[in-house]
Amino acid sequence: MSTIVILTGAGISAESGIETFRAETGLWAQHRVEDVATPEGFAKDPKRVVDFYNGRRAQAAKAVPNAAHEALARLEAAHDGEVLVVTQNVDDLHERGGSHNLIHMHGALNSALCGVCEHRWPVTSDMHVGQECPACGAPAARPDIVWFGEMPHQMDRIFDVLGRADFFAAIGTSGNVYPAAGFVAEATRAGAHTVEINMAPSAVGSEFDAAIMGPATQTVPAWVDQILKNG
Ligand code: OAD
Repeated sequence: MSTIVILTGAGISAESGIETFRAETGLWAQHRVEDVATPEGFAKDPKRVVDFYNGRRAQAAKAVPNAAHEALARLEAAHDGEVLVVTQNVDDLHERGGSHNLIHMHGALNSALCGVCEHRWPVTSDMHVGQECPACGAPAARPDIVWFGEMPHQMDRIFDVLGRADFFAAIGTSGNVYPAAGFVAEATRAGAHTVEINMAPSAVGSEFDAAIMGPATQTVPAWVDQILKNG
């Protein structure tokens, strides 16, 4: 029974209408990373940061999973061994598309985090500055997003599964942000076959055994069909 690890990035949600980060008109062309995706940015101007994620949460709520999200759920349901999806995305399109074995390594828009006691709770509507934590009462709620300079979630579990992976695929990610960009090297060390599925080769594209280029809604279902056929 083979173990398959799939890393996803913003490109898998692009055809659901959620903008990517590094496209010419993407999020990082419209906002400074330091302002909206760092603990320092939140300390300096919490309203700007909370509003940014309120906007992204509202956008994600309107989006629907596409054929690529659904194909990964189909793979998890039909494959004999483990299929783990590790996403850098903070939208919930993988879970709404039917994936269960899923890690949100960069956090989730539908979750709030207490800056004092680290309690987490679900949020589906706008957050506000000074929102109270339901556990400890501190007015210290923040979006449950991993900002630059913070540690991504569940790294021990991710590296444990990568260490016994037979297949590793990276879908729709530009390979600019570590530790995720280093997963291909770790999977290669474990002896996994690696494939990059993207619109164009990523910054770490040369490290993969194979590449499939094109829009995720077309390439991912075809790749899943092929994996399920070959076992
Ligand atoms: P990027 O915006 O850096 O890259 C998106 C990738 O998706 C690019 O390689 C595109 O070529 C590709 N792409 C675009 N449309 C696609 C489509 N229809 N089908 C397939 N591929 C497509 O986004 P990420 O790599 O996810 O972190 O960014 C990684 C992290 O950087 C994010 O999680 C975020 C950001 O700063 C934090 O905020 C901590």
